Amino acid sequence: MTYLHDCWYMVSWASDVGQQGVLPTQVMDQPIVVYRGASGALFAFDDRCRHKLAPLSRGRVEGDALRCMYHGLKYGPDGRCIQIPGRSDVPTNLRVRSYPVQEAHSAIWLWMGDPARADRTLIPPFEGIDHPEWKMIPGQMDYEAHFSLINENLLDLSHVPFVHRNSFGGGEEIPLDPEVSIPMQEGEVTQLDRGLRIVFSARSGPVAPMLRAEVGDVADTWTTNDFLVPGIFLLTIELFKPGSIAAAGGRRPADEMPLHRNFSCQAVTPRSARRTTYFYAFGPWKKSEVTAEGFAQVAEMAFAEDREMITAQQKVIDASPGVKPKLLHMDKRAAMFDAVVQRLIAQESQNSDRSLPEPAP
Ligand code: FES
Ligand SMILES: [Fe+2]
Repeated sequence: MTYLHDCWYMVSWASDVGQQGVLPTQVMDQPIVVYRGASGALFAFDDRCRHKLAPLSRGRVEGDALRCMYHGLKYGPDGRCIQIPGRSDVPTNLRVRSYPVQEAHSAIWLWMGDPARADRTLIPPFEGIDHPEWKMIPGQMDYEAHFSLINENLLDLSHVPFVHRNSFGGGEEIPLDPEVSIPMQEGEVTQLDRGLRIVFSARSGPVAPMLRAEVGDVADTWTTNDFLVPGIFLLTIELFKPGSIAAAGGRRPADEMPLHRNFSCQAVTPRSARRTTYFYAFGPWKKSEVTAEGFAQVAEMAFAEDREMITAQQKVIDASPGVKPKLLHMDKRAAMFDAVVQRLIAQESQNSDRSLPEPAP
């Protein structure tokens, strides 16, 4: 599978890189070191010293530079070697590849493509953790699975009543009667420049157990889900009193205050072909009686349910060479998203000046 390079990949929560901290990470098989210099700025290099290939993540931050702690080569913020112990001159071509890196929405983002095309405005609106309207606790888990399986899972929420019957599903299968709802596997899909927007609603459906004290047993639900490259899932769920969506002519009840609102931001980052990190935060709006901890607990339970199913699925896929999945109507959105990715990859290769990672020596 070809990866998209010209986009921002979330590599960690910002709190994982402390003051002048050094963080070894990996994106798309590429070991990378991220560090924070004395100025507070972040820098990212290939995690491989150009001398004898020792990991720079074992290095020491000096000002805004990073010193390899094997034989002491020192690299400036642009990856150029600026000091070799015992020598007064430094070859001008002695350098490590550096990556554009940004801190935004409590997370660290790496641009894996051409640095000249790194555009900060393309960092996904992953707000929530540090937004005054939401109560959220960040989390993450590692998967032994290809990242596309996790993207497909997030693009097809028809798994919710089955995989999450004990967490989100509330112990009962959500009715998918097309007379009263836009079924979750359909939704109204709008193509965005870098992803999809999927809007779906459910009328007079059962409320998740943790929200029943606040909302009641039954509510109308309005869900807006943006899914952006490379695997950014942004989901806003609003609950209205039953009948509100019908009264609004099938649209979001604009004149009515929701009974409850919650938001989830998630990022799927490929580390290698069989290792993926799934970052998430999920929480209610500030006025909810349910705590951020309550949401985090349910999220962790639900996301563990996904991981169990997907890693089991990966094992079967790996044991079944040549057996292709039979795609159905609920896979339409994953196919649409893949078309967006393929268009962006084609665009990227047209701009063939993309700087590729240095080949391993
Ligand atoms: S390996 Fe880094 S200085 Fe020798
Ligand atoms: Fe799920």
